[in-house]
Amino acid sequence: MAEGRTEEDTVAFEVKDGIAWVQFNRPEKRNCMNPRLNRQMLRVLDELEFRDDVSVLVLTGEGEAWSAGMDLKEYFRENEEKGLRAIRTAQREAYSWWERLRWFEKPTIAMINGWCFGGAYGPLFACDLAFAAESAQFGLSEINWGILPGGGASKVASELLNFRNAMYHAMMGENLSGIQAAEQGLVNEALPAAALEDRVIEVCKTLQEKDATALRATKWAVRRMREMTYDNAEDYLIRAQEAANSFGWDARKEATKQFIDEKTFKPGLGTFDK
Ligand code: ACO
Repeated sequence: MAEGRTEEDTVAFEVKDGIAWVQFNRPEKRNCMNPRLNRQMLRVLDELEFRDDVSVLVLTGEGEAWSAGMDLKEYFRENEEKGLRAIRTAQREAYSWWERLRWFEKPTIAMINGWCFGGAYGPLFACDLAFAAESAQFGLSEINWGILPGGGASKVASELLNFRNAMYHAMMGENLSGIQAAEQGLVNEALPAAALEDRVIEVCKTLQEKDATALRATKWAVRRMREMTYDNAEDYLIRAQEAANSFGWDARKEATKQFIDEKTFKPGLGTFDK
């Protein structure tokens, strides 16, 4: 089936109740990312990003894997045989959808149902939140086959894990279970596989109650903060709020009215009534 799978068929998606469920769809290859999948994923993100019936995106995997990383045959070996132009093209195709996902206009959740290796740390980090099955397996397996964790994987490990854990994870080639990944900060939570989807839907519903403009500004702010000095962060946040005001001023005014004047909600305890 693998070689017969069309480019379009490498990614599956459906939209239900405002949630775009996007799936890596090469289960017979443990959803490893080949150039066809990378190209198709960018098209799918492009289609979903501005759809009015989509308010949250969930990225998951068909079958036993979330994603077994880059396709060692079709992404690495075949392009290396063709030369530098093919290598760079394949890299750009992969990195461009991960970047698109990092800065997606709507909240994104990684629902890690199984294997998650190497290159898959790119889309893992690109998602704003991450929930894993306790039985999922996370690995920087690069060291096991003689390369360094590239394609952003070392960066992701250093961003999400503490220094000692990042070093151990990258150097030892041992996998983390979903439970260990949650303990070390790679994901928000680990749950029994049977409870995973319900928990993700619950999180989606909470996000859907929030103001969409404020959510977008918030997720971008938290990502930008990581690389800023305190002074730069203060300045960015003032400007980001002022820019958001031009889109979300009504929401903010309404929320303030409900808290200060009508006393119908408290921002510290829940979301205002949209
Ligand atoms: N690249 C290419 N093919 C892959 C990959 C991959 N990353 N992962 C799985 N496959 C293929 C296998 O070659 C096999 O193909 P075949 O049916 O034509 O023989 C098929 O997917 C099924 O894989 P199995 O190994 O038979 O599945 P199993 O369930 O026994 O093991 C596991 C799953 C542990 C994920 C294993 O496939 C594996 O180790 N994959 C590689 C994981 C990895 O290290 N990825 C690279 C990370 S580094 C990076 O991304 C830069």
